[in-house]
This record gives sequence, C-alpha cells and structure tokens, in this order.
Amino acid sequence: LLVEKGNHRHFMAKEIHEQPEVIGHTLARYIDFANETTKMPEGLPFDWTKLTRVVISACGTAYLSGLVAKYWFERFARLPVDIDIASEFRYREAPLDPGGLAIMISQSGETADTLAALRYCKAQGQTVAAVVNVPESTIARESDVIFPTLAGPEIGVASTKAFTCQLTVLACLAVAAGRARGVLTETDEKRLVHALTETPRYMAEALRLEPQIETLAKTLGKTPHALYLGRGTSYPLALEGALKLKEISYIHAEGYAAGELKHGPIALIDETMPVIVIAPYDRIFDKTVSNMQEVAARGGRIILFSDAKGAEEAAIGTVETVVLPDMPATLTPLVYAIPIQLLAYHTAVFIGTDVDQPRNLAKSVTVE
Ligand code: G6P
Repeated sequence: LLVEKGNHRHFMAKEIHEQPEVIGHTLARYIDFANETTKMPEGLPFDWTKLTRVVISACGTAYLSGLVAKYWFERFARLPVDIDIASEFRYREAPLDPGGLAIMISQSGETADTLAALRYCKAQGQTVAAVVNVPESTIARESDVIFPTLAGPEIGVASTKAFTCQLTVLACLAVAAGRARGVLTETDEKRLVHALTETPRYMAEALRLEPQIETLAKTLGKTPHALYLGRGTSYPLALEGALKLKEISYIHAEGYAAGELKHGPIALIDETMPVIVIAPYDRIFDKTVSNMQEVAARGGRIILFSDAKGAEEAAIGTVETVVLPDMPATLTPLVYAIPIQLLAYHTAVFIGTDVDQPRNLAKSVTVE
C-alpha cells in the first residue's frame, strides 16, 4: 500500500489535516444520521445494562484516548471505568469479576503490552472489545468484538488522526451505553449525537488557526521546557499535548491536571516557563482560571487554548490566546486535539527535527 504525502511536507501534517474527513467516516459507522442515534454492530457479545464497570487498557496516545473515555463513560452511562497503561496493567494482577467488559485501544493492534493486557483480561473471563485501526491485527483477531477506527493508514510515528478517531468511537460507545442503561433519555442521546455530527465542521475551523499556531511555535521552539495544564477531559489533552511536543520536538514537556499545579509543578514556574493551558469555557473553567492566575503571578508565560467566552473571562497575563469555536463540551477533546497537534508539529518543524520519524521512537512497539 503506497501512501503519499500529497501537498504536505510531512505525513504528520497530512494526517492532521485529514481529521475532518476521517472523523466523518468514523461517525458514519457509529451514528445513524437520519435518526440522530448511535449505531452499534449487531449482536454485541456483552450487555451494557449488566455491566458494573469497564476496564480500559492501552499504551501511549491510545491510552490517553481511553482516559478521556473514562470521563464520558462515567458521565453519560454512570459506568465506572478502571483504566491503566497496558505495561502496568498486565503485571498488576487486577482482580476482575467474570463477565466484565475490557476495552483495548490500539492504532496498530500489535502493541506487545496491550496484547498482553488483552490476554490477561480474557483469562480473567472478560469480554474483550478492541478499538483498533488495523482490523487484521493481532489485537483485533484475539478480541471478542472490534470497533474499528476508520482513520486509514497512519504513517507519522506520532499518532494524530488515530487518536481523534479513537475518541470518536469511544464517545459513540459511551453514548450508546448511556442510552442502553437509561441514564440518557432519547433527547439526551439526540443532543449528544447531533453534537458529534458537528465535529468535522469544528475541526475544519480549528485547522484555520494554523498560521497563528505556527507563529507561537517559533517562540515555543526556543524554550527547553513546557508545561501543559487542563481539567476534566482537557486533562488527558494536556498529557497528550506534552507527549506530542516531547516526541517530535524533544522539548521536555509535562502535562498536569491543573489542580495538581500546587503539588509540584508550580515550583518550576518562572519567566522562562511556557504554560500551555487547555481550558474551554465549561463548568470547571473558573477553577482553571485560578490556576492561571497562580502561574501569571509568578511570571509564567501562558498560552491559552479556549473559546471566545473563555478568552474574555481569562484576560489575565496570558501571552497569547488561541480562540477556538464555541462547541458542546463533549466535543472539546476531539477538536482541541488539533491545535495541540499543530503546536507540536510546527515547533518540531521550526527546530528541524525529523517529524515523521523522531529519534528512538517506533510506530508500533511489538516487543516489550
Ligand atoms: C508508540 C507510538 C505511539 C502510540 C503507541 C501505542 O509509542 O509511537 O504513537 O500511541 O505506540 O500504539 P498503538 O498502535 O497500540 O496505538
């Protein structure tokens, strides 16, 4: 299979820009657009109403999509989620009640630790569902049911479109679970599904922020370190932002839950520290603003990713605000992923690293 870069300088750029399209394809698989309901494969080997919890395991960026999904499953379906990185989970010997559901998330479907976690879950009597991008992969074959992500081949080592496709599938699963369990009404489901169908449009708008982000990257590219903060579903996004930046630009970056600022990272804040805050205007926005004030008071250089309302309410000592469109809260992890990816991408391009094949990293980690 020959995949070309087209007009793009790197596969990563191409894959970032493909997101509105591949998210559209993925949505078409899991959503009935006419009725605004979720659409699940026939004969699922588990029953949402009988589950008391879900186990999720994965590695790297796929793990971070699972971390977002935890918030969604708990909120939309009142279903507790136990999530762990696969390399820990496989040796943790977690007690699992037979008949539970385990969800493995993997772009390649070949990650050794995720496969081992899958086998552990099966041995513990779990039904295993895989959210995978490669339907012929080992993880797909060994699972009881697969929920494919329709991202198409991902060539850049740093995952981008596979991540947002994973989020899309997981959002649909969480909504389907919520409806089945009677937590969401028909109207709730319609509202959430309708919001999801708008994702490609918001993503296209987010892509138009690229020139501003490219300029920001020229400053970020001169710093040795960066801190990413977020709360709620923006917390996994902060982790993902830091991961992307360190993977491809080699700038040391850490992602933190904004509320943890006081418990450590605040010691790092001075005029040289860029702090990237992911804070759409939501019900916990004010909490994040107070963390930003703590950063600003110590001279930290804040780059805020928010929407118009957030930008207005947080006009405190920010170096720059990247203003995203207003959107339903469910969509923010999907859409905010784009500027986060673009920031890492342009920083790496500015520094001149090998964006598609960063040093020491592999696209698929098939050995432990
Ligand atoms: C490697 C890749 C990451 C990916 C992770 C998990 O570290 O560089 O981009 O997130 O593996 O891979 P998987 O194929 O299981 O999603």
